[in-house]
Amino acid sequence: MTKEFDVIVIGGGPGGYIAAIRAAQLGKLVACVDEWKNDKGGPALGGTCTNVGCIPSKALLQSSEHYDQALNHFADHGITMSGVKMDLTQMASRKDGVIKQNNEGVLYLFKKNKVSFFHGRGSFVKAVDGKYEIAVSGAQSESLFAKHIIIATGSTARPLAGTPFDEETILSNDGALKIKAVPARLGLIGAGAIGLEMGSVWRRLGSEVTVLEGLPTFLGPVDEQIAKEAHKIFLKQGLKIELGVKVGEISKSKKGVSVSYTTAAGQTQSAVFDKLIISIGRLPNTVGLNTQAVGLQLDERGFVVVDADCKTQLPNVWAIGDVVRGPMLAHKAEEEGVAVAERIAGQHGHVNFNTIPWVIYTSPEIAWVGQTEQQLKASGRAYKAGTFPFLANGRARAMGDTTGMVKFLADAVTDEILGVHIIGPLAGELIAESVVAMEFKASAEDIARICHAHPTLSEATKEAALAVDKRTLNF
Ligand code: FAD
Ligand code: NAI
Repeated sequence: MTKEFDVIVIGGGPGGYIAAIRAAQLGKLVACVDEWKNDKGGPALGGTCTNVGCIPSKALLQSSEHYDQALNHFADHGITMSGVKMDLTQMASRKDGVIKQNNEGVLYLFKKNKVSFFHGRGSFVKAVDGKYEIAVSGAQSESLFAKHIIIATGSTARPLAGTPFDEETILSNDGALKIKAVPARLGLIGAGAIGLEMGSVWRRLGSEVTVLEGLPTFLGPVDEQIAKEAHKIFLKQGLKIELGVKVGEISKSKKGVSVSYTTAAGQTQSAVFDKLIISIGRLPNTVGLNTQAVGLQLDERGFVVVDADCKTQLPNVWAIGDVVRGPMLAHKAEEEGVAVAERIAGQHGHVNFNTIPWVIYTSPEIAWVGQTEQQLKASGRAYKAGTFPFLANGRARAMGDTTGMVKFLADAVTDEILGVHIIGPLAGELIAESVVAMEFKASAEDIARICHAHPTLSEATKEAALAVDKRTLNF
């Protein structure tokens, strides 16, 4: 069957489904093609984020955090409990329920916005008369045509060379989110966002967790002062973190999976784990797209080559999200999706890459926006810094969660905020204020002069802004 649209979006993750909805809002006739299947073979819209990423990982982080609180922290509040148990089947079924709600939510949004959804793999067939033909292969075969194509096919976990994922003992993010029993010994290769979040979940549930990181520095992209604080806190919590290791042979045996590695000091070591999660970054999904049919340019790593506006070298073919350059974050994909839909409709969509926030959902959370102190030093920019510890924040004390700090970096002359870095309770929520401030090119003094409710964690943001000018009031 042949069907004509103004826009076809390939991929229904946060980049693709949001692009489809925005284009439909702007009056375009839109189709979205996505191949993800749920365990019954039906559609499961929402991509990596909903099915094996942001949403299920946060569901497990929440459940394990409650367990950890009940086990280790409720007593501080005078609540004593005995026989606290974790029912992993219930934890997993709650997580699966949250995923399903999100899958169904996207389907509902497509209906509401009149986006036509096709379940199956989308691939290029040819360019003809200013339009592109996209074949859908799935339960039904379809032939779709549109002037504009948005590629939003996302990414998948990168395996270590010679060590394919079996999702039983050697796990990608997919298997890591489906572990059925607490592994006594859990190994993780890569101390990035996935390594630390998944490591936190299973440490709280009782695993002995070892994280093997290739780089000599911990959390390299994070502000150095915050990363050092995080390292200290995670070690104290019981995560074993080995930096600067070179992973060697990985082999499976009856005892589990054995990993040999060379330490930063040059010693050869071997460790045996019941489960091993490999979280060393992700690869773009371009294999199934048949890009050669239209000559779409990919880089040497398989990413679709785009300019700052997400335009590929082919007329009216756009690409967004994990499949292109830039951070692999759901909200970055969404912003690009909105901007591309608006450009297609003749508007001037824009993404400010300097104000994309990052959040790592460990406990405490780590969140930041803008530049780190090491980036400012490297660029030679004159800056002032101010920090404020949660230890001196009334709400944090009342909550019983005083780890961490807020750190402001501002231009030495103009006082414009250049970066804000937080490690502490609800850092992921607190960072929003700083994102707004930076979007409006606020100065540190602007934040320092704004009334913040008392007692709130957000007062630590105000105090850190005051600290830039060395005039904190509560520290
Ligand atoms: P994806 O979400 O990968 O979606 C792409 C979709 O396209 C998929 O459904 C795929 O099946 C489909 N597809 C691919 N090829 C085809 C084809 N040829 N035809 C049809 N369909 C196709 N980011 C955050 O911002 N916050 C977080 O807390 C966070 N946590 C994460 C936790 C984990 C464990 C992981 C793995 C990732 C996490 N991320 C997080 C990253 C986030 O998931 C991605 O950045 C985001 O999903 C990218 O969105 P996307 O739309 O570009 O691609
Ligand atoms: P990552 O890029 O965050 O971290 C990978 C880590 O593995 C790095 O520290 C890297 O130095 C290390 N590494 C790479 N090769 C190695 C090797 N051979 N041996 C040992 N260490 C090695 O990637 P990760 O954790 O796989 O996550 C993928 C992406 O998903 C992230 O880039 C992030 O954008 C996104 N994500 C975001 C989250 C969030 O926003 N909270 C949560 C989880 C994932």
